[in-house]
Amino acid sequence: MTTAPRKILVTNALPYANGPIHIGHMLGYIQADIWVRFQKMRGHECHYVCADDAHGTPIMLKAQQLGIEPEQMIAEMNQAHQADFADFHVAFDHYYSTHSPENRELAELIYTRLRDAGHIKTKTISQLYDPSKEMFLPDRFVKGDCPKCGAHDQYGDNCDVCGATYAPTELKNPTSAVSGATPELRDSEHYFFDLPAFADMLKAWTRSGSLQDEMANKLNEWFEAGLQRWDISRDAPYFGFEIPDAPGKYFYVWLDAPIGYMGSFKHYCETTGKADFDSYWQKDSNAELYHFIGKDIIYFHSLFWPAMLAGADFRQPTNVWAHGFITVNGTKMSKSKGTFIMARTYLDHLDPDYLRYYFAAKLTSRIDDLDLNLTDFAQRVNSDLVGKVVNIASRCAGFIQKKFDGKLCSEFTDTSLLDEFQAAGDSIADAYEKREFARATRDIMALADKANFYIAEQEPWQLIKDPANAARVHEICSIGINLFRLLMIYLTPVVPELAKRVQEFLQEDFTWDSHDQLLTNHAITPFKALLQRIEMEQVEKVIEDSKAANAQASAPSTSNGELENDPIAAEINFDDFAKVDLRVALIANAEHVEGAEKLLKLTLDLGGETRQVFSGIKSAYDPAELIGQLTVMVANLAPRKMRFGMSEGMVLAAGPGGKEIFILNPHEGAKPGQRVM
Ligand code: MSP
Ligand code: ZN
Repeated sequence: MTTAPRKILVTNALPYANGPIHIGHMLGYIQADIWVRFQKMRGHECHYVCADDAHGTPIMLKAQQLGIEPEQMIAEMNQAHQADFADFHVAFDHYYSTHSPENRELAELIYTRLRDAGHIKTKTISQLYDPSKEMFLPDRFVKGDCPKCGAHDQYGDNCDVCGATYAPTELKNPTSAVSGATPELRDSEHYFFDLPAFADMLKAWTRSGSLQDEMANKLNEWFEAGLQRWDISRDAPYFGFEIPDAPGKYFYVWLDAPIGYMGSFKHYCETTGKADFDSYWQKDSNAELYHFIGKDIIYFHSLFWPAMLAGADFRQPTNVWAHGFITVNGTKMSKSKGTFIMARTYLDHLDPDYLRYYFAAKLTSRIDDLDLNLTDFAQRVNSDLVGKVVNIASRCAGFIQKKFDGKLCSEFTDTSLLDEFQAAGDSIADAYEKREFARATRDIMALADKANFYIAEQEPWQLIKDPANAARVHEICSIGINLFRLLMIYLTPVVPELAKRVQEFLQEDFTWDSHDQLLTNHAITPFKALLQRIEMEQVEKVIEDSKAANAQASAPSTSNGELENDPIAAEINFDDFAKVDLRVALIANAEHVEGAEKLLKLTLDLGGETRQVFSGIKSAYDPAELIGQLTVMVANLAPRKMRFGMSEGMVLAAGPGGKEIFILNPHEGAKPGQRVM
């Protein structure tokens, strides 16, 4: 034991249960995993828990889309996530779900304590409501034209084109992304957490000096802007926990999400008995608590979360450590470029230790973004892990096996290099402790260079030609194996599977303190290849598969090509098609609709019968130019009640929207009412 054993609880942000894990996510889970493995190797009591973040509107809607219950979807996603993490050797002590009895109980407890202490307020607010879906719309589910620059198809919270941020109610021509209906304002009573009441406590925490500089700066900016009360309730329909004293109101997903850290740990404590829940979470706890998170969720973890814990009489985190975002080849991960890489796609072609090493080699304790340059990735792994580290063993093991019966020598005449490698352990440990993994790996690789230089200089393959040098060769190769061993002890938190193969090869179990001893007079097993080089073809396959997976998904992207943005729908048979009754229609009249920003009211003549249709083509057509034209309509579509009246069908049109809407027009000679087949 290097220092007295510490009690440490580590978490990483909980991934949402509505999509698979991608390599961007993996950065945080791997960073925390390396840190946890290091602490465990040092003999500390360290627990690493996580869970799926299973609540909220996107998850509810996604399940509806799939036609299954949210419980089923989150259960399946949980399995997939756990498999991805396990295969990346992210070794959680417990992986759970926020949709658990423990989490419900803790969320209710924390809420009740906050309420009883006077930290919960209510207020009636107006929000956009989807009248056809009968639900309030989160910002991300309202789309419309940017109030600043007028760009079409922007989300309810900010504009991708000009970067403006605004309230969803400010969007022009808003539509519900859920149903396409025009949202309307409705009032509802919401529950608020009184964050401003915790300003002093949060400011003191910020001044404590232990936070990352960038985080402390952000917090100070937020303090200057003034803290606001936090809206913690959502109206039904919602997938989450109902607020105990407020039927029909649910906890906002971000309220019970961080409580999920506690819920997961609680289940772990109660089912394994490996730790005592209260001693980790009670106010005067002497355990350490660290949250690893991405930089996008600092607000939730550095303001709301510590304040909630304080207000509910629990301990606060020892620290919250944020990391930056992954870019691939210098830009944001892109579906069309094939750099939006799912964890599983990577695993299909590449060893997870490669990525773990690459991330470690670039991770610091700061919040900088990290670029995964795929060429650099292959070169770095090949040159460092294969070319430098594993190479030491492969150069020495053969002689030990063939000439010395598979046994290392029993003493060394010169230990200077071994001493240096052993002495480096403390500073490498210091780098791990401080999350300066780039420094740790750099120092380890500098040592690897020295080991290779030593062997090259000694030339055991020359010496061995003269049997008189046998003892000397035995010592050189035993030193080489010991140097390799020390490097691998130091690298174990980063590349655990490689380290496992090395421990089998050396017939030894590593702890951090193993580096205080050397292996002498010790039998090792015959050397087998420990790690393959990365071939660029493997990397290219990952990209190809990612592109193919994306082409199947329908998510629109900014790439060119209509089909890429909107792939052809699943095949139907003729009977399916014949159900759609398409008719040639004469536009007998077209007019503006009072108060409608997108719609024109069309009167369509089907040769005897007329229909009234509201069509969202106002941005592209002047009513006068339409009157007297022929077009094609869906004649048997169920009538729909809209704000301005009944719409009895649909006119066929193509194009992305705005000025680019093109209605269909049959060739001359077609008559109103004729069926289109
Ligand atoms: N569910 C919330 C977290 C709740 S914690 C109480 C959430 N989920 S997430 O799935 O969107 O993200 C999970 C973690 O992955 C977050 O820490 C997030 O910052 C991180 N990342 C998501 N994309 C990332 C990159 N491209 N790069 C690095 N980390 C990224 O947020
Ligand atoms: Zn804009």
